[in-house]
Amino acid sequence: MDFKTQIKNDKLPRHLAIIMDGNGRWAKQQGLLRVVGHESGTKSVREVVEACAEIGIKHLTLYAFSTENWKRPKLEVQTLMKLLVKSLKKEIATLQDNNIKLAAIGNLQDLPKKAHTELLEVIEKTKSNGQMTLTLALSYGSREEIVSVVKQLTDKVKNNIISVESIDESIINKHLYTQNLPDVDLLIRTSGEHRISNFLLWQIAYAELYFTNILWPDFTKNDLYEALINYQNRERRFGKTSEQIS
Ligand code: IPE
Ligand code: IPE
Ligand code: MG
Repeated sequence: MDFKTQIKNDKLPRHLAIIMDGNGRWAKQQGLLRVVGHESGTKSVREVVEACAEIGIKHLTLYAFSTENWKRPKLEVQTLMKLLVKSLKKEIATLQDNNIKLAAIGNLQDLPKKAHTELLEVIEKTKSNGQMTLTLALSYGSREEIVSVVKQLTDKVKNNIISVESIDESIINKHLYTQNLPDVDLLIRTSGEHRISNFLLWQIAYAELYFTNILWPDFTKNDLYEALINYQNRERRFGKTSEQIS
């Protein structure tokens, strides 16, 4: 069944974030190496990115590599970094064709030089695109991000740039990696794991959470549409009562 026609254009999440999980298990199920799963996962990335831009989602953030993922076997980490470079080179055309602007959040200096340079190049080349912002979370950890906000703010207080009294939620927002993004409305995690794994802890405070057992390399446009319809059928109350909302 094609769910696309059921999606309401006026009720789209402004910011969709996805924890793309299950590449390793997908490969293992077919007796293949984990890295083959990652390679296969890039096809889902392209499909989902194109679908989001086409539907009219303005901000899509993909969790591609966490600060904890550095602890994986060296060969797997190396392959993931090579895949990143390869995908950036290959998909720049997809980004330009679909008018998508690339951005990145995370400790980008920790990336291998080649990956870092390629990433900055694609960000620069796509900076004027306006259909959608695609943000890649790379070497990203939410706790690390929050620690960095605390450091920036204490430094500003120490140097009399801001006062302690002036610190509020909006100042914190302005110092996060995600300063240019609205709060997450919908967070999808594939692969059947029901956890956040250090992703956008502050930004998902009021996000709707959607978990599916589908492994990332098997995740298609239609699975995305299904998640969006599920989201659109929820009542977001933000602490109020149902009567106040309707
Ligand atoms: C997600 O798939 C990709 C990254 C974390 C880089 P996994 O590699 O975590 O796959 P599983 O969870 O082991 O199946
Ligand atoms: C989260 O997946 C990180 C990414 C999808 C990039 P993991 O597979 O690393 O998460 P855990 O360790 O199982 O929670
Ligand atoms: Mg995983």
